[in-house]
Amino acid sequence: SLLLPQNRELAGKHIVVTAGPTREAIDPVRYLSNHSSGKMGFALAAAAQAMGAQVTLIAGPVNLATPTGVTRVDVVSAEQMHTAAMQAVDNADVFIGCAAVADYRPEQVADSKIKKSNDGMQITLVRNPDILADVAARTKAPFTIGFAAETNNVAHYAQDKLARKKLNMIAANDVSDSSIGFNSDDNAMILFWRDMNNTVQQQALARASKSTIAQQILQQAAKLLSNNQ
Ligand code: CTP
Ligand code: CA
Repeated sequence: SLLLPQNRELAGKHIVVTAGPTREAIDPVRYLSNHSSGKMGFALAAAAQAMGAQVTLIAGPVNLATPTGVTRVDVVSAEQMHTAAMQAVDNADVFIGCAAVADYRPEQVADSKIKKSNDGMQITLVRNPDILADVAARTKAPFTIGFAAETNNVAHYAQDKLARKKLNMIAANDVSDSSIGFNSDDNAMILFWRDMNNTVQQQALARASKSTIAQQILQQAAKLLSNNQ
């Protein structure tokens, strides 16, 4: 059973969350994707709703029930997720990019199933748009939270993404430990943000259920949001 917070620290806030993987079509029957389950993003959406927020959850293909009271928009590809996110963030207070967005897509999608030959084959990939960076770059950008799943140099890469994508906060985790992250029900993270003096601050969140981790991330975000007002 979910343990949800009793307080309503996010009452009146509109929060947009992306979750799950994206699928990038190769032909009508094949795609490129990744192992994201969507559980962390769905836990964030549920916790934000319980804290009083109005929540829009933009979900890639996942096998999860929509949290009570949450508005869900289903998408498949990164380009579709980008379009849905840009629409949803108008008037949003907080954007949380929790989706594992495919960085590349096949340049061409074949109209019919590709037949094998005796040769090897190559698929040319092109870059997908960076949804999180594009949200953070908007003129009236919401408070923007990113995720960084890394296998090495976790703190370094996370702080690099915080700066490069101009985020307000980033939640980093070490996915070289396969017992947490991706398909697991647990997670452990380090949060990084900048204080009023532009100094990077951090908070370690010990291994816990994704529901508990989600509440801790949102509590820290709510604190920073109230400082900004
Ligand atoms: N992200 C996004 N759109 C993309 C790629 C990433 O919104 N096209 C978001 C993810 O949802 C996540 C954050 O950016 O919140 C970091 O994703 P990650 O894959 O770690 O960062 P990249 O910038 O893609 O860098 P790399 O994969 O090279 O580490
Ligand atoms: Ca990436």
